[in-house]
Amino acid sequence: MQEGVASRTSSWVAGLRALYSELPPQLEVAWDPVAFSLLPPGLRTLVGALKRVPGGTVMAHRAIGLGTAGLSYGVPLRTRAIDDALRSQITPQHQLVILGAGLDARAYRLPELKEARVFEVDHPVTQTFKRSRIATYAPMCRELIHCSVDFETQSLPDRLQESGHDPKLPTIWIWEGVTMYLTHAAIEGTLSAVSDRSAPASMLCVTYLPHDAVRGWRREFSNRIARYVGEPLLGAVPTVKLESWITDRAFAVRSNEAPSDWAKRYWGKASPRRVRDYERLIVAVKD
Ligand SMILES: C[S@@+](CC[C@H](N)C(=O)[O-])C[C@H]1O[C@@H](n2cnc3c(N)ncnc32)[C@H](O)[C@@H]1O
Repeated sequence: MQEGVASRTSSWVAGLRALYSELPPQLEVAWDPVAFSLLPPGLRTLVGALKRVPGGTVMAHRAIGLGTAGLSYGVPLRTRAIDDALRSQITPQHQLVILGAGLDARAYRLPELKEARVFEVDHPVTQTFKRSRIATYAPMCRELIHCSVDFETQSLPDRLQESGHDPKLPTIWIWEGVTMYLTHAAIEGTLSAVSDRSAPASMLCVTYLPHDAVRGWRREFSNRIARYVGEPLLGAVPTVKLESWITDRAFAVRSNEAPSDWAKRYWGKASPRRVRDYERLIVAVKD
């Protein structure tokens, strides 16, 4: 992360969620009525203009998909896949911890969280930016707690303990679109903290970039953009390695899916042909 600058990638993915919330029903996957208001001014103007032009959001869906070689489709799809995993596991006892929350609006849009305490964990600078933009919205959850942590340099267990997270209650952990920006040491350290604070019936939803998912010029191109915005891709990892880091910490992998699986499930015939499998999602549970 660039010193003193809120995560730009968190705005980009919220921009995609805002756009996909305006698409016709056959393409809408994870309705996020809050995302638009969280965007920085430039992105908000752009998405606002697309909303006003007839067919503008569908055109943008196709153009951004083409321009990113299918990468953009994975963002709204992964959000929906995680929402569904959460819905399948949550009980009134569960807490929700969103690691690297960015502009995630689950606490403001999921009625399933009405009994839950939700902890949004993020880098201090990104969290300050989000809080300044969301002040007028009321969360739907029982309680929303902000907990600022730099996964590379600060202790997640200490910060969660101070914030009132209860390791004796089950937790749903969401770690969406973050591990690719972290060193392997920070990923392993965070997984250890997650495991130590996970009572039985806890669930981890973590997305990751397999080390061989992006090759050749695409790899160089995405690395350049990521470095340029100050969020270098440090955390690509082989699937077997990440799965073993997770199972070594007493979680059982329930599923490991990719954007093409979700496109079939959620978009069916409306799915674009070129949905590429860059980022994957592991859902793991502790019994
Ligand atoms: C691509 S955004 C994803 C945000 C959100 N999870 C989503 O899917 O909308 C990456 C997030 O990781 C966070 N992040 C990156 N490096 C971090 C670090 N070292 N410590 C804490 N958070 C970090 C950023 O602040 C940002 O919110």
